[in-house]
Amino acid sequence: MTGKTILRGQVLSFVRTPFDGAPEDAARIDEAVLIDGSHIAAVGPLAELRAAVPGAVEIDHGAHVILAGFVDAHVHYPQTAMIASWGKRLIDWLNTYTFPEERKFADPAYAAEIASRYLDLTAAHGTTTMCSFCTIHPESVEAFFTQAQARGQRVVAGKTCMDRNAPEFLRDTAQSAYDQSRALLEKWHGVGRISYAITPRFSPTSTPEQLEAMGALWAEHPDCLMQTHLSEQTDEIAWVKGLFPEARDYLDTYEQHGLLGGRGLYGHAIHLEERERDRLREHGAGLIHCPTSNTFIGSGLFDMAGLMAEGQRIGLATDTGGGSSFSMLRTMAAAYEIGQLRGVPLHAAQLIWLATQGSARALRMDHLIGNIAAGMEADLVVLDLASTPAIAQRSAMAEDLWEALFPTIMMGDDRAIAEVWIGGRRV
Ligand code: GUN
Ligand code: ZN
Repeated sequence: MTGKTILRGQVLSFVRTPFDGAPEDAARIDEAVLIDGSHIAAVGPLAELRAAVPGAVEIDHGAHVILAGFVDAHVHYPQTAMIASWGKRLIDWLNTYTFPEERKFADPAYAAEIASRYLDLTAAHGTTTMCSFCTIHPESVEAFFTQAQARGQRVVAGKTCMDRNAPEFLRDTAQSAYDQSRALLEKWHGVGRISYAITPRFSPTSTPEQLEAMGALWAEHPDCLMQTHLSEQTDEIAWVKGLFPEARDYLDTYEQHGLLGGRGLYGHAIHLEERERDRLREHGAGLIHCPTSNTFIGSGLFDMAGLMAEGQRIGLATDTGGGSSFSMLRTMAAAYEIGQLRGVPLHAAQLIWLATQGSARALRMDHLIGNIAAGMEADLVVLDLASTPAIAQRSAMAEDLWEALFPTIMMGDDRAIAEVWIGGRRV
């Protein structure tokens, strides 16, 4: 559906971050939002929007909550089919399950099938933008961007580069990683709603030469994002220190090769040293919290409260398929539980902000997506706060909207997603 549409419901938008000041006052609720083509034209009282656009189509969502679509700041779409693989920690999990699956993406037909399946699954869960790793195969990037483009979806992705400590069939070289990444970037970056992210997988699977080549490419294209992994498991950190004996810490393996910056996205970032925290904050780099992955693979407890308090830029992500879900609701629930284990419960407003604006801010796209305001792209999700009997009976008792939302955050799944809009189109 395109044209002018008024959606009625409880339209929730943030007026400031809920991490500064009382979280419950960080958002406002409006009666309606007006979609004009691919963008949001206005938010406000129903009578005002009706008067502004007589004859607009109206969809009444009653008590449902209308939010910005979820933004998943770190995923591996090629790991869709192998999600929920049992019993391994990071390095064994990569070798046992991940690399054999990623091998299949040399086949463009398989890559297209999984890209399509992944985008269907995530849309059903209310995710409208994601930042994805692909595989070393350029075909895997082509497949993902082609599928996203057909759906008019804002996505970020890049070819995952690895030239050591991976099976022969998943290795490129410093030069071929540079050449293939550059060709994909030049073809796709900025085409419609597509952005390219330079994507060295992580320091253990790149030689210093490959990291240097990725850093050079980023310096040539500073408007691109760069995504990688940082300090996920303690064994991994010890391995990095062995591979890069001259580095001051894990982050330094990126920093020394031009891979630290404000458009850098560092997945996990759990076991950080003080120098790493200082450097990440000075650059305004994006730290991406992947809570279901961090519990599923047994990585550790992200320090949300401490990192937020020191002013880090933080996004939220499923990390599918190290993460055990496609759902940002489930991901918010896991972030809440990790907060509890660290003694700091996150408020519902903070969880929803992280899954929308927080992630959009980490991706440097918060002027386009991640909130509901005039001029922003019309990526929206409509949440049913009574999607199952268990959730309905709890939210019925709630005294305010945050309390009514919280059971859907903790217990909701794709049944709570009443409707999704991507780029002004109902999907
Ligand atoms: N570190 C390097 N590669 C990966 C990956 O695919 N998933 C996770 N969770 N961590 C990684
Ligand atoms: Zn990852």
